[in-house]
Formats: sequence, C-alpha cells, structure tokens
Amino acid sequence: MLKRTHNCGRLRLDDAGKKVTVAGWVHSYRDHGNLVFIDLRDREGLTQLVFDPETQPDAHKLARTARCEWVIAAQGVVQPRTEGMKNPKLPTGEIEVAVRQLHILNVAKTPPFEMDGAERTGEELRLANRYIDLRRPEMQSKLQTRHKVTTAVRDYFGKLGFWEIETPMLAKSTPEGARDFLVPSRLVQNAFYALPQSPQLFKQILMISGVDKYFQIVRCFRDEDPRADRQAEFTQIDVEMSFVDSDDVIAVHENMVASLWKHILGVDVKLPIRRMTCKEAVDNYGVDRPDLRFDMQLKDISDLAGQTDFKVFTSAIEKGGVVKGLCAPAGDKYSRSDIEKTLTKFVADYDAKGLAWFKVKQEGEAATLIGGLAKFFSGQLQQQLLQRFDAKDGDLLLFVADTEATANKALAPLRCRVARDLELYDPNTFEFVWIVDFPLFEWNEDEKRYDSLHHPFTSPVEEDMDKLDTDPANCRSQAYDIVVNGSEIGGGSIRIHNPEIQQKVFDLLNIAGEQAKQRFGFFLKALEYGAPPHGGIAFGLDRLVMLLTGTENIRDVIAFPKTQRGQCLLTDAPSEVDAKQLDELNLRMQRPSHIVEEKADE
Ligand code: AMO
Repeated sequence: MLKRTHNCGRLRLDDAGKKVTVAGWVHSYRDHGNLVFIDLRDREGLTQLVFDPETQPDAHKLARTARCEWVIAAQGVVQPRTEGMKNPKLPTGEIEVAVRQLHILNVAKTPPFEMDGAERTGEELRLANRYIDLRRPEMQSKLQTRHKVTTAVRDYFGKLGFWEIETPMLAKSTPEGARDFLVPSRLVQNAFYALPQSPQLFKQILMISGVDKYFQIVRCFRDEDPRADRQAEFTQIDVEMSFVDSDDVIAVHENMVASLWKHILGVDVKLPIRRMTCKEAVDNYGVDRPDLRFDMQLKDISDLAGQTDFKVFTSAIEKGGVVKGLCAPAGDKYSRSDIEKTLTKFVADYDAKGLAWFKVKQEGEAATLIGGLAKFFSGQLQQQLLQRFDAKDGDLLLFVADTEATANKALAPLRCRVARDLELYDPNTFEFVWIVDFPLFEWNEDEKRYDSLHHPFTSPVEEDMDKLDTDPANCRSQAYDIVVNGSEIGGGSIRIHNPEIQQKVFDLLNIAGEQAKQRFGFFLKALEYGAPPHGGIAFGLDRLVMLLTGTENIRDVIAFPKTQRGQCLLTDAPSEVDAKQLDELNLRMQRPSHIVEEKADE
C-alpha cells in the first residue's frame, strides 16, 4: 500500500522536486489522449495529477480507467506547471504531480449528484447521500470551522478556570418552554426520561455543588418545528458562574464572542458591545432581536392616523391597536404590484390584514404623498408624517394597522425583507447588541396566567423584588440576550438563589405546590442547602457557526441534520421498532404510524 506523505491541498511550488504520495477522491479527470489529468481531492484541497504515457505507461493506462469519486493513491514527483497551465484560483495551482505509481483503492458508483453543481441539487438528495455531500469543499470547510470554534471555546474557558462537566442526557423534563422528547424506561415500567431541553437545572446544581465555573458543549433537544435557524436537536455552549452579577457574565461572554470572530474571521468586534432595553428594541424594531446593520426604525403614527377618515386606521386605533410603519429609503423601486401583491402577501403570512403604503414625491419646494390613501391625509398631516420619518423624494412608507403585537410581528420581518431587497446593508458586516431589561413574565391570555419570558429560574432585578407581590406584570428580570444581525445567538440570566423567591415565582406561574414539588422538588430542596448567588448563559453553537460561515441554513453547519419533519434522510430515523422492543417497554401502538402534518412556519 502507498502511504500518504502529503495532503492534496498542501503542495506548493517550494515542494517542486519532492517525491510525494497523495491519496483521495477523483474530483475530475481529463483524458487528452496523450496526457491524462486527474484533479485529486482530499479535505485539504485539490492537486492536479498528470500521467504521461511515454514515461509511465502502466500508471497512464490505469489512470484512463478512473472515474469521479474513485479512491486512489498516487506516488510521483512535484513539478511546476508549464506556463499557461497555471491556475491562480487554486492554492496548488502552480504545481502538479507527475505520477509514477497509481493504486486504485476503491471504485465508486456514479454519484447521485455532481459535486460542482450541488447547490442546484435538491437538499433532500444531498441529505440522503450526506457522505457525498460532506465531501464537497464548502461542507468540509464548514465542518472545519465548527471544529475550530469548539476548540477555541474549550481553550477560552479552560484558561479562565472553567471546568467542562457533562450532565445527563436521560433526564427529567426541564422547563425551557418547548415539548420534550420522551424516552421510555424499561426498568421502571411506565416511566419516562426526557431528553434535556438544556442542562439548566443541572448547571445550577453544579453551582450549589461548589463548582464555581462550569461550561459544557452540549446537545439539547426540543420537540419543536424546525426552522431555518432551529433544529430539534442542537448544540449549546452552556455556561454558569457563581458569585457574579450580570455585568460579569456579559463581560466574559462578549470577550468570548470577540475572540471567536477574531480567530475565525480576523474581524475585530468593538467592545463593550452596546446594550439596548427590550422595550427600545420592540418599539423601534418590532422585535427583541433587531438586525442593526441598517436603521429604518419603525414608528408609531397612531396620533396622526387617528385624525384621518381612513376607516382601517381609525377602527384599529379605536380597538386599542396602533398604526405603525417604516420608511424605506428609495423604496419607490417597488412597483405598485410589488407592494400590493408581494409585500402585502408577505405581511399576511405574519397575520397582518393589510399593508397601507405611500410613495414620497418632491413637487417643487414640498414633498407630498402619492398613492391611493394619500387623500385621507390633509396637507398638514402629510407634512407631519414626512417629518416623523424624515422621508425624502423616492422613499416608500409602509404601514400596518392592527394590535401592537401583530403590527410588530409583521413589520419586524418586513423591515428585514425590505432592507435586503433594497440592499441597505453590507452582508459581510456584523452588528452585535445585548438586549437587557426584559420583563420577567408575559401574560398568557389563553390560559389566563403568567409565563416566564426566559425560564422560571431567572431572577427579578433587585429593585423590582417587591413587584412579585404587587405588580408582577412590570417586574423586570436580570436576563440578557446577545443578538447578531437579527439572530439570537445566546441568552441567559442571573438566577434566583433564594428558595422562597423561587417558590413565589412558581406560584405566579401557577405551578401549584404539588406539581412544583413533583417537577422541581429536587431543585427546591437543593436551593435550601446553601445556594451561592449565580448566573450564566447559553449560546447556540449552530447559530454561531452559521454566522461565522455565512450560511442561513442551520443544516449546513450540522454534519447529520434533520429535515423540516425531523427526519434523518440518511438513516431513515425515526422508524418503527419491533413489537418485542415495545413489549419490553410495556408500550402499545394505538394507531398505525403516520406523519403529523404541521403548519410550516419557516
Ligand atoms: P435558550 O432557550 O435561550 O436558553 O437557548 C440558548 C440559545 O440556544 C440557541 N437555540 C437554538 N438553536 C438551534 N435550534 C434550536 N431549536 C434552539 N433553541 C435555542 C439560541 C439561544 O439563544 N438554559 C437557557 C440558557 C440560560 O439561561 O443559561 C437556555 O437554554 O441561540
């Protein structure tokens, strides 16, 4: 067997004259009758092999039989390519290997899709043949970046005295707000483990155990519908620290983020990262994870809209709603049909009942509004509206009249869509922000009770402790989220370490005494044995790697991801199991297996 001496992508002009052995997959081949060329690929890149019938007739003859994705090893001498044959696009483009010995290590069936055209291939085919898909240089580079990130993260926390500690995968249901994946127990019949939605309670117990500084790169499981940036099985960089306040946690983690961006992209992140209150984010951007690469803030114009006779506006306001919108600079590029068909349909997907619009036109001295609804706005109201947005000739004003929540829900994605369409930002920049001052609770109208905005272990801010009794709706939490380009990459909080306050929060969440005991009794008990003040955070590793590799598809940064339906197309999981396995677990199927149709929300 020929033993490899070099990786394909590593050979350079300096290596000319060296005898080398390379091994890998046939990326492409060209048979010029006389000379045969093979581009050989391994994970480090491509090298051109050349086979000359004059000097090496046996190797040449064998090379003519090789096909794409066959596995070969070749021994030969590195030589400079002749002028005119150099390829400046390839790092190895100045050399080639003149092969003396060729071994075919394995043959391969014709791949189901072309390596070079894989972007045009349906993703399902790529996922079903993931081993071929992952061979592609773009995918190898993403796998490598992910490895670099995890290595750098371990290094970063290790140097700061954090210990990496594993927590159980077969665990008890934890309250991150999603549905659990359940695993039936064989030994304790009719009882179930839950796969962890996060190690939240274990990491807090590690603080009570005196560990002081913990981190873990850990798999988490949430049975929720996948989205472009969400998988049911994903990975967190999970951290917890004792004797800290939120500034301490924020400082450690913005330094981590900055060191990753420097290490992977060579980009300097300006520290400290700015902070924005949750209210500011929602008021101005419609969402608590604003994309700050562009401005285009949302503005409430209910005061002006209320003075018009336009029924859609006035009735929304009468019902307690708002008229809110944005001004798209040079947005008159959108035609009337773009606005009334495409953009209106876009906001309808987020439950907005319509999209009102005006174009801004400079006529002589003054700018005026153009569009079907302009007649409802008097000259003075028009000027006030234009002033509010600082709108100029050629701008487009877009409005949603609805409850504030629905207006925000529709306008936040519309803002991003418009910015993208109008190329309002450089896609290669990064804008970081910490979102702080979240409310501790949100009101759940359906169930007429409070829900935790983060999770039930988040501490209220000290000054608001009394509000747990008097005004829970306005109680702020010590939670923080970190957002980059509109993507929430991490979130955490200072925790409650006092059992009475924890109990009070459970009461407000309507987690009744018995239930609290059953679900969290072990934790409440632990809190009674000397819990230090503590806090932490978890980053979505997959989302970090998405940003660092410039992809918008979470499946691109996971070696073996699941589809929209939570299926692994490579292995065909989930799949049915034997009756015997079910028997052992004391389980019985009620209905034949089928796929539950869920509304796609991507
Ligand atoms: P949270 O639920 O906010 O917090 O999760 C932390 C981060 O994990 C990422 N994330 C996901 N990534 C991909 N797919 C998903 N389904 C998914 N869900 C979450 C996000 C998010 O910011 N225990 C707390 C953390 C803490 O309080 O310390 C927690 O899990 O980037």
